[in-house]
Amino acid sequence: MSIKEIESRRSVRKYCAQEVEQEKILRLLESARLAPSGSNTQPWQFIIVRSPETKARLAAADHGQTWMLSAPVFIVCIADLCSRVKDTAGIRLDEQSPDEELKQIIRDTAIAMEHILLEAQTQGLSTCWTAWFQQEDVRSVLHLPGDKYVCGIITVGYGDEAPEPRPRKVLEDIVRYETW
Ligand SMILES: Cc1cc2nc3c(=O)[nH]c(=O)nc-3n(C[C@H](O)[C@H](O)[C@H](O)COP(=O)(O)O)c2cc1C
Repeated sequence: MSIKEIESRRSVRKYCAQEVEQEKILRLLESARLAPSGSNTQPWQFIIVRSPETKARLAAADHGQTWMLSAPVFIVCIADLCSRVKDTAGIRLDEQSPDEELKQIIRDTAIAMEHILLEAQTQGLSTCWTAWFQQEDVRSVLHLPGDKYVCGIITVGYGDEAPEPRPRKVLEDIVRYETW
C-alpha cells in the first residue's frame, strides 16, 4: 500500500457480478486486524455478508440504497463496547449517546475500516463505506446485542464504474503550524 492506493481509491457504487475470492476478503480483514487502537483495545468485530436476502435487508435499512446490492460482499463493521468496558449497563449506544466510551470505540473501528478500504484498493477491489442507517434497524437484521455499535457497512466487489475524484480541501485550508 502506498500513496498510489490512497490517491486512486474512490467510493464505488456499481459492481460487476464477479464474486470476490475469500482469500482477498481475508486479506482485508487481516489489514483491519492490524490497525492501531487506543490502549490496544481492538474494539472491532466484522460480519461478512454474502447472502442476497441479508444484503437486501441491510440495504433497505441503509436508507434503501439499492445500488449496494450489486456488490457481492458487505462487510458490516461493528464497534464492541465490551472491549473497553466490563459493565456495559447504563452506557448508551444509540445516535444520541453522549458516552465517551462510544466515541472511543467508534474512533478505533473507523481506523480499521479505512485499512479495509485501502487494502481493497491494493487488491484491485472497489469499496464504498456506507452509514446512512439507524443503529436499531441494522442491529435487528443481524441480531446484534445492544452493546454493539454499527460503524458502517462496506460494500466490496470488482468495480463497474470509475468515478472522477471528489474534490478535497487544499492543504492551506486544513493545516496550521505550531498553534491554532
Ligand atoms: C462515514 C461515512 C459514511 C458514508 N456513507 C455513505 C452512504 O451511506 N452512501 C454512499 O453512497 N456513500 C457514503 N459515503 C461515501 C462518501 O460519500 C465519500 O467517501 C465522499 O463523497 C468522498 O468520495 P470518495 O470516497 O470517492 O473520495 C460515506 C463515507 C463515510 C466516510
